Amino acid sequence: MTQCTSRTVLIIAGIVLGISGCSERMGKGWDWNRMRNQPRYQPYRDSKFFADGKAMQLPPAGTVSRESIAADSAAPPDSALVATRGKAQYGIYCAVCHGVRGDGNSIVATNMAQPSPPTSLIVPPVSLMSASIVATVIANGFGTRMPSFKADLSAADRQAVAEYVKTLQNRDLPVAATPPHQ
Ligand code: HEC
Repeated sequence: MTQCTSRTVLIIAGIVLGISGCSERMGKGWDWNRMRNQPRYQPYRDSKFFADGKAMQLPPAGTVSRESIAADSAAPPDSALVATRGKAQYGIYCAVCHGVRGDGNSIVATNMAQPSPPTSLIVPPVSLMSASIVATVIANGFGTRMPSFKADLSAADRQAVAEYVKTLQNRDLPVAATPPHQ
């Protein structure tokens, strides 16, 4: 057999096997339905299995989420770097749309078509986001109007810009909205 015919035979065999893999009839003898329809609880339903009668159980006492470990172990932002590099890169890449103070006041924002002008970065929802989420938005872009800055800003720069956005938010927090001291 030439190399070409054996390749054709292989391809045809692949197609036949591939198609038959999708067939229900081939499944006979294999108890697929038992795998598909396993007894399970729906969220928020009753359960006779657990003592409190609920299908949804709280995590055991002392459980720590992976997210909170990541947040706790993250190095505190280098404030000097944030104030210099973060501010400079923000001025270059973000201020054109989000305004120098992050309040959405910019020529581009004013002229951008409705319905989605750039969000002010200093009010909710953005002011409620952690710096790492803002850094993710910088890396991935947002919607159709905000491009990804992965190619322009290194991971360290994205983090510095995100931390700088947080400082803009804190600076502009009205005194009345400052949480009371505990
Ligand atoms: C070309 C204009 C433009 C530039 C430049 C730009 N953005 Fe945006 N950004 C937008 C628009 C438009 C939105 C979406 C607004 C909306 O949908 O409300 C947005 C949304 C956001 C959001 C909110 C995402 C959310 O979940 O609501 C954040 C945070 C953000 N931008 C940060 C930045 C930072 C930091 C930079 C600089 C690295 C930057 N943007 C650069 C236009 C821009």
